[in-house]
Amino acid sequence: MTAQLNARGDVAVVVPAAGAGVRLGPGAPKALRLLDGEPLLVHAVRRTAAAPSVRMIVVAAPPADVEAVHALLSPVAPVVVVAGGAERQDSVAAALAVVPDDIDIVLVHDAARCLAPADLFERVAAAVRAGADAVIPALPVVDTIKEVATDGRVLGTVDRSVLRAVQTPQGFRAPVLRAAHAAAADLHTDDAGAVEKLGRPVICVPGSDFALKVTRPLDLALATHLLTLET
Ligand code: CTP
Ligand code: MG
Repeated sequence: MTAQLNARGDVAVVVPAAGAGVRLGPGAPKALRLLDGEPLLVHAVRRTAAAPSVRMIVVAAPPADVEAVHALLSPVAPVVVVAGGAERQDSVAAALAVVPDDIDIVLVHDAARCLAPADLFERVAAAVRAGADAVIPALPVVDTIKEVATDGRVLGTVDRSVLRAVQTPQGFRAPVLRAAHAAAADLHTDDAGAVEKLGRPVICVPGSDFALKVTRPLDLALATHLLTLET
């Protein structure tokens, strides 16, 4: 049975899932690697679809896998699948292009953050609904952070209290995200960064430890354990 999305929801979620996963080591594209027997993307889309505000999910898949990804996700939730691009922001732009204009709020969510819980999507969407142009989930930084020269010499210690580690889903008023992407001349690692360059405000809401990004092999081990802790 395909889980139905909420037809009265006001949120579209764009899921970039077209990356190779180079840092995870050799193998299938990262979104299709297995966590507890299921692809990361299946975990991600299942949790995305469980958020009541979500009306539409658009996945940007590796171009060679568009059909296979659609078949994989159809039993999980209704999704639109498009071919991703060479860079993450190309994948986001390709997915954003098929989001209809009557959806007011767009969330961008990395497939690699496959355990981000439904309530995190709701928290981000609620902050946009309440009036913010752009909203990012963020956590305090726990390590001491130093600025270091290329030769290894320490240049200084950064004030950790003003730093945040930023996650996805990141939420946007749809026209603001479209304008940020249209204006983006350089590569950006997150979509909020493109909004910042427009000079528009971006606000933080509390992130979630479950929204960690599976990047290296250790992260897969952590995510496997986190699965046992989900409530
Ligand atoms: N992504 C994408 N299109 C790209 C590159 C990345 O859709 N051309 C997606 C990834 O699939 C992932 C998210 O963007 O869900 C975050 O990127 P990252 O964690 O860097 O994933 P990869 O690029 O796959 O990993 P790596 O950088 O190690 O190759
Ligand atoms: Mg990458």
